[in-house]
Amino acid sequence: MQKAFDIGLDLLVGGKAVAAGAAPDFIAGAPQRGTFYLETFGCQMNEHDSEKVAGVLLSRGYRQVHSVEAASFVLYNTCSIREKAAQKVFSRLGEFREMPGESKKIGVLGCVAQQEGERIFHRSPWVSLVCGSASYSKLPELLAQLEAGEKRVTGLDTDTDETFETELTRRDNPWRAYLTIIEGCDKACSYCVVPYTRGPERSRTSDSVLRELRQLAELGYTEVQFLGQTVNSYADPSPRGLKFSELLRAAAEMPGMRRVRFTTSHPRDFGADIVEAIEHDERICNHVHLPVQSGSTRVLRAMQRTYSREGYLEKIAMIRRGNKHIAITTDIIVGFPGETEREFEETLSLLEMVKYEGIFSFKYSPRPNTPARAMEDAISEEEQSRRLAVLLELQRKIQTEANEKLIGQSFEVHVEGKSRKENQWSGHTSCHRVVNFSSAQPDLLGKYVNVKVQSTTPNSLIGVHQ
Ligand code: 5AD
Ligand code: SF4
Repeated sequence: MQKAFDIGLDLLVGGKAVAAGAAPDFIAGAPQRGTFYLETFGCQMNEHDSEKVAGVLLSRGYRQVHSVEAASFVLYNTCSIREKAAQKVFSRLGEFREMPGESKKIGVLGCVAQQEGERIFHRSPWVSLVCGSASYSKLPELLAQLEAGEKRVTGLDTDTDETFETELTRRDNPWRAYLTIIEGCDKACSYCVVPYTRGPERSRTSDSVLRELRQLAELGYTEVQFLGQTVNSYADPSPRGLKFSELLRAAAEMPGMRRVRFTTSHPRDFGADIVEAIEHDERICNHVHLPVQSGSTRVLRAMQRTYSREGYLEKIAMIRRGNKHIAITTDIIVGFPGETEREFEETLSLLEMVKYEGIFSFKYSPRPNTPARAMEDAISEEEQSRRLAVLLELQRKIQTEANEKLIGQSFEVHVEGKSRKENQWSGHTSCHRVVNFSSAQPDLLGKYVNVKVQSTTPNSLIGVHQ
């Protein structure tokens, strides 16, 4: 998160926005309780969950502090998507080994909590709270139990059909807000822990989503990012029954909203109606994050991705056929068990064909409970690293060439950061490219400005305010 942001606090009480702007770390008038330190690992869903957890605790009278030393509760919101992410959490927990008799209570939230459950108490006996994301609404109760003298408490159900909606969300960015529209995942990709750690798919009602969006607009937010592991699998559970593309259209019409974006889309549920919505309303951002994972149909089948190379490329052709340029980014896993050199080359050739605006790429990491863990023909770490380097080099070339073609063009940029260097600013285009630019004008943070591109790097555009 950029340091230039003011910390924003949105108090959403009884359906009305009552406070915005610079945020205190406590709420005046609430009963005064202990202090908490909250650190987040992992994806945007986790970042946003932490914003909601902080909001819930603040509303119950807990005060947020920014060092472990000052905290009575130390909470880690954790990620277990790959082995390394999970290890990081255990090494952070290990730092408390040397602090016997401390009155501090340590809590593990999020995906490692859900995955490891009570085993965390055996591995790190100084931990007193373990709570997965599907049980966050129980958090205040769990903390109260600890304060009342209980030694160990857990919230580990995933069969809840509730989503985690809060009256108060402590948002860290005062202009762009995250908004979860669907939680959990019902796909069953053979490598992925998410269906185990975040539980089954649960969509929020469109009324609840649009109510929160209205509150955000009243608070001064102009950009919203709809979040979900498979955001486009959204299905309104209320009688209104909005499809994902209809929800996007309704959101874009909210007075005050200038940009609506969404992530992550699953190729299987990506239909022409979403492309039409993007074309229809320029407030719906022209960027789609569409993870492919592999360019080989055999590997995709082993991954249980439910589409083939050809099926995926048809979706890309559909997105590109429209009359508006839509930026496409993706996720790739290299070194899935049994991936041959030829199959890896199919991923390279897919990158050449699609020419993504950006990619996130990962070495396959075996995860607990997942079917891929039992697959034979593991690819060595060394070979995975080699494939990753080859992939990244190719993508660097693709992005360099594509970005150079943008020199001389102008883009609308939502300004989100100010550099320490004088007159230097940064932000994103609608298609989610990072733009660094110069402007002598003061107070641009949060504004939308036109920037003309003068030069580029593989990952960003550099320009001047027009
Ligand atoms: N190993 C490596 N990468 C993974 N991802 C998910 N699970 C694994 C795993 N076991 C990647 C996928 C997904 C992204 C969020 O993380 O590419 O799209
Ligand atoms: Fe994991 Fe697949 Fe669900 Fe994405 S769609 S969260 S990769 S199981």
